[in-house]
Amino acid sequence: MKDAITVKIDENGIAELVFDLPDSSVNLLSIAVLQELEKKIDVIAVDEKVKALLFSSAKEGIFIAGADISEIKAFSDETDAYAKVREGQMILSKICSLPFPTVAIIDGAALGGGLELALCCDFRLATDSKKTKIGLPEVSLGVMPGFGGTQRLKRLVGLKKAVELILGSKLLSGKKAELLGVVDACVPAGYLDFKKETFLKSVLERKERAKIVSRRHRATLLERFLPNVILRYARKEVMRKTKGQYPAPLALLNLYEKTEKILFDEAMELEARTFASLSVTGISKNLIGLFFTSESLKSEKGTEEAVALSDIKISAVIGGGVMGSGIVWLFSKADLLVRLKVRRMEQVGTAFKSISRSYEAIRRRKRLTRREIEIKMDHITYDTDFTGLRQCDIVVEAIVEDSDAKKMLYETLEDIVDERAVIATNTSSLSISSLAEDLMHPERFIGMHFFNPVNRMPLVEVIAGKKTSAQTIATVVSLAKKAGKTPIVVGDCAGFLVNRTLLPYINEAVRLLEEGEDLLRIDALLSEFGMPMGPFTLADEVGLDVGHKVVKVLEEAYGERMRPSPLFDVIVKEMGLLGKKSGKGFYLHAHKKKSPNAAVTEVVTERHSFNEDEIIDRTMLVMVNEAARCLEEGIVKDAAYLDMAMVLGTGFPPFRGGLMRYAQNRGIDNVVVTLHRLANAYGSRFEPAALLVEMAGDGTNFYEE
Ligand code: NAI
Repeated sequence: MKDAITVKIDENGIAELVFDLPDSSVNLLSIAVLQELEKKIDVIAVDEKVKALLFSSAKEGIFIAGADISEIKAFSDETDAYAKVREGQMILSKICSLPFPTVAIIDGAALGGGLELALCCDFRLATDSKKTKIGLPEVSLGVMPGFGGTQRLKRLVGLKKAVELILGSKLLSGKKAELLGVVDACVPAGYLDFKKETFLKSVLERKERAKIVSRRHRATLLERFLPNVILRYARKEVMRKTKGQYPAPLALLNLYEKTEKILFDEAMELEARTFASLSVTGISKNLIGLFFTSESLKSEKGTEEAVALSDIKISAVIGGGVMGSGIVWLFSKADLLVRLKVRRMEQVGTAFKSISRSYEAIRRRKRLTRREIEIKMDHITYDTDFTGLRQCDIVVEAIVEDSDAKKMLYETLEDIVDERAVIATNTSSLSISSLAEDLMHPERFIGMHFFNPVNRMPLVEVIAGKKTSAQTIATVVSLAKKAGKTPIVVGDCAGFLVNRTLLPYINEAVRLLEEGEDLLRIDALLSEFGMPMGPFTLADEVGLDVGHKVVKVLEEAYGERMRPSPLFDVIVKEMGLLGKKSGKGFYLHAHKKKSPNAAVTEVVTERHSFNEDEIIDRTMLVMVNEAARCLEEGIVKDAAYLDMAMVLGTGFPPFRGGLMRYAQNRGIDNVVVTLHRLANAYGSRFEPAALLVEMAGDGTNFYEE
């Protein structure tokens, strides 16, 4: 195989190791590449001509993207993982002992192992290219830096920043990395060659070199004398955010605590040991599985057909409610021109309030300046009639969930908008093919299902009707990606994939409540399981009226198994509770506090405390069962995409790897046996899906191990 690293040495004795992994768009530090690196470093180390050594990449937009994650995924034995990571540490440490200055030239992604290599160099020069991203994101994969990154980053930027950067898996721009001291300088990408020369000159000149080093971080008093205060605070934050469900962040903090008072070499050894123990855990395998799915989603076009994408520059959104304003915000942020059509002028004020709130959240995180936001807000115009829609490339409909109202609107729209414009609906449950029944041009009609709140939820379900063209699908997939969302193409059925799978879970929670279980206990148990919030809190957030409409659509489509608990009907139809937006739902909401709504709990006369496992089995397996039916019917491509959709659309706990990964980790046999038992005890809605029964019979799984 061709080498991954070439060595160049010029007449002035400046050596350069250029990474360019053959047949790959990225550079990775696999074990083979590390061994090649070692050989090349050993030769350069004794070459007396060499005055300085640069590390760079020949790949566009990439320095080194990290260690080879598929190798980490394959680790199953802790001793073996330890031996491999120790070897990597030893090889990279050789860079630190070279007898001449070393410089990493970072023009592109320097992540994980890539940054750890750069941290072994004496100096780091980055560019301001948009592709330059610098960070140690290993914790997001359930592990931690293992090639010395925890120790060398701490030395360079101090304990506090190191903890923040690693725990947050933060990816820094070149400028930000310079500001935090992770790199010594950030230069304009266009002038890299020239700036590199100047930087190298400074590095080779003793006084100038000292100047660079003098700008680096010096340990603060807190870091020197009370590092435990920093660690204690960080631990509290980790527990608040993760409830202790992710071992890697806690292991990192323990490592920092233990390595405060020991020698560097001992700390490195301990780092390797901790890395090895994390790398073989199920949680790390689950998180790495999701990482690979998100990578494969990046290259999804939504269709196998080679089609030309329509150019989308001008958009319109119909309906300025919760979802309409969210979509207007998103499109304006993605620099599309947006026309908002509302029914009454006073709705514009509410919509703009919500749009400004979403922008304000970004400004606070310093992602956009006030001026940049003003420019983006200027992309938005509005009216109560359809003027300005003729030149639109796409119209997204976000009006009430009522099929007649939607169809009437499409009729008007088809008379106004251009024939080639895409018409998308944000319906959360209605069949796309039925909505398209009366259209003149059903080929340009599609479902583009955003999740609430649009500014925070990353998923967009893309749903093609029977007559939707491949071009329309590809155009909408590409638009969703451009807007920073993750589109997943799903089949056209009532509730699509996510709501169809999630609603039975909420229904089941309401049944448990009706059978006498305590509302707070159900919410608490499912939060502990890892759901971002309990089912009653979620139902109140979504809006009980909205949820009820969807439940009814699902009941009509799927019958008995989706029938809502009578209690749900009472709460919505008789008591008129709407959830958080009206202050009353399963909870009473006052400011930021909520307490169970006695009006609801009093309706239930029974009292019964279920076993914890029973509550989890009923709520989780009812979802697994419906999701298996979706797979059976081809509603989603495979279990990996289904899992990603549930993680991104409902916040299903990533550490569990997704819903089907959870089922697989329990054992498909166990799932089927439990479903049979639940069906006997509670009714036919638990009858296991044919796919699960078949898999249990054949001993097959959703994922290959
Ligand atoms: P909403 O009730 O907040 O807003 C609907 C807006 O549409 C209102 O401002 C209403 O005045 C307007 N509207 C109604 N009929 C209209 C018409 N004929 N022409 C123009 N405007 C009209 O509802 P929301 O929550 O924004 O939902 C909109 C759509 O998005 C629905 O199809 C819903 O199923 C879907 N959806 C809702 C989600 C949620 O969590 N609320 C999540 C994902 C999708």
